[in-house]
Amino acid sequence: MCGIVGYIGKGNAKQAILKGLASLEYRGYDSAGIALMDGKNIFVEKKQGKLENLEKALECLDLNSSLGIGHTRWATHGAPSDKNSHPHLSMDKTFAVVHNGIIENYISLRKILEEKGYIFKSETDTEVVAHLLQENYIENDPKKTLLNVLNKLEGSYALGIVSSHFPEKLICARKNSPLVIGKGINENLIASDVPAILNYTRNVYYLDNDEIGILSKNNIEFYNKNGIEISKESHLIQWSLEQASKNGFDHFMLKEIYEQPNALKATYSRIVKDNKIDFDSIFTRKDIEKYNKIYIVACGTAYHAGLIGKVYFNNISKIEVLSEIASEFRYTNPFVDENTLVIFVSQSGETLDTLEALKEAKNKGATTLAITNVVGSTISREAHKVIYTMAGPEIAVASTKAYTTQVLILYLLSLYIGVNKKNIDIKQYEEFLKEFESIPTKIEEELKNSNIIKKISERLKDKYNGFFIGRGLDYQIALEGCLKMKEITYIHTEAFPSGELKHGSIALIEEGTPVIVLATQKNLIEKTISNIKELKARGAYVITLGNDNNFLKEVSDEFIEIKNTTNYLSVYTAIVPLQLLAYYTSVAKNIDVDKPRNLAKSVTVE
Ligand code: F6R
Repeated sequence: MCGIVGYIGKGNAKQAILKGLASLEYRGYDSAGIALMDGKNIFVEKKQGKLENLEKALECLDLNSSLGIGHTRWATHGAPSDKNSHPHLSMDKTFAVVHNGIIENYISLRKILEEKGYIFKSETDTEVVAHLLQENYIENDPKKTLLNVLNKLEGSYALGIVSSHFPEKLICARKNSPLVIGKGINENLIASDVPAILNYTRNVYYLDNDEIGILSKNNIEFYNKNGIEISKESHLIQWSLEQASKNGFDHFMLKEIYEQPNALKATYSRIVKDNKIDFDSIFTRKDIEKYNKIYIVACGTAYHAGLIGKVYFNNISKIEVLSEIASEFRYTNPFVDENTLVIFVSQSGETLDTLEALKEAKNKGATTLAITNVVGSTISREAHKVIYTMAGPEIAVASTKAYTTQVLILYLLSLYIGVNKKNIDIKQYEEFLKEFESIPTKIEEELKNSNIIKKISERLKDKYNGFFIGRGLDYQIALEGCLKMKEITYIHTEAFPSGELKHGSIALIEEGTPVIVLATQKNLIEKTISNIKELKARGAYVITLGNDNNFLKEVSDEFIEIKNTTNYLSVYTAIVPLQLLAYYTSVAKNIDVDKPRNLAKSVTVE
């Protein structure tokens, strides 16, 4: 999704902004632009396509600027083009604006401005902000100028602004779209995401909704929506740029797949101490007694982690859990009240659909718990309670290590709540914990044996469509394997419960249609074998994932043997080969694995 970087200070603004934008490339974008102050005027350059187009256009620029803003755009209003790229200038060219989010009332604002004689150069919602700044300019008062404009905006925004009226100020504001402010020495920065400022500082402030920031080289001032100065707490970012680099791997996604054993160990050891799950600082006994209903709400891969979590809660700890897609949560009239715990799962902690669902749950009086990977993210701050996955920065658009660590947190949470509600006895609880301890090693062993997967990916790369099927927990795993395949290989795949395929969609099976069969649930193997036979009889090319089993091997065209574990934990040993299968197929198709088309790492629009 869109990225913002702004710089003011002793150094070279162009360099800082381009470096920052490069580190946000993973978020997904279709054009990039920059605005630099030269003391009196604002210089703007913007280009459709990759950042290197902008870099090339700037090669000969001889401008020593120490203040500027930059943007990578992921088109919403208006197609990707030079003119729709940010920054946008006010008509008199005194203000330049970069914006993440959507100004929902931009049509009426545009009409009013056009009636006043403003001429628009783009189709974007953002351009109204630039003209409104000109229209509402108050001499020597950046704060009042900005607040006057913000009062007129509906929707979501993270804004970065420079103005020739305030040639030594970098101005920013936020509502429902993240913005961090980095405090350096003789230099300060703004960015939509932390990696963009890590080259300069690890000291950050998180701007909250309806707050504005006015930065100069040596100072940062914060104000609330009434214009009253407020003080904010700074945070130290604990991870480094190395952790956000490829470290010798061809792609971030591959590196992140390989990081899963360590990410799981780190998450586990942070929570489990002396064979005991320690969520005691998060829940009181009274809390646990109070919850009579639990929801898990999330989007995409995080939703799939939630589906596995639901199975854990229902089957292991005998607690009924409902799971909902975040963007639909509001429309399902959820049965949420003050005795409900609503768990929001989000790698980025910034997904707007999840954030809006969180607000809905809070309005209804529920206790909200965030499971997220990003310390200080909006969802982590808005929820009543938060548990962090210790996955480290996840850069590839396709989520891998965030998913497996989310599943682990949900496993531990279901055990914790289950044992505290006395639905699981201590012996079972200890066994469940013990069973997990061998998982990181099993994944490591699987990662050493990826040759068969590479071979299969060569055969998959020319297919146009396919299916994933599974029964019980295997279906939830299939959903995630299928999403990985779709998003990075562009092969149209669909996941079905094994028994459901024959109720219609089996009509699509023809000679050579690939079907990836999940067969990890030991009690369901017989039925799965029957389903494979039905598929084979219709010409499907069957790739099965299962434990060592001669019958399964015999009936399948390809067999990916996974490490043996319990039915519940087979999600780990199965998902890693599925991630690799999608990865190698994507590589075989020459696709930009880390930045697949149309996708964004954090989805900050509804
Ligand atoms: C898929 C993927 C997405 C995200 C979804 C939610 O690989 O990454 O489906 O899982 O957009 O994002 P978060 O977890 O950041 O809320």
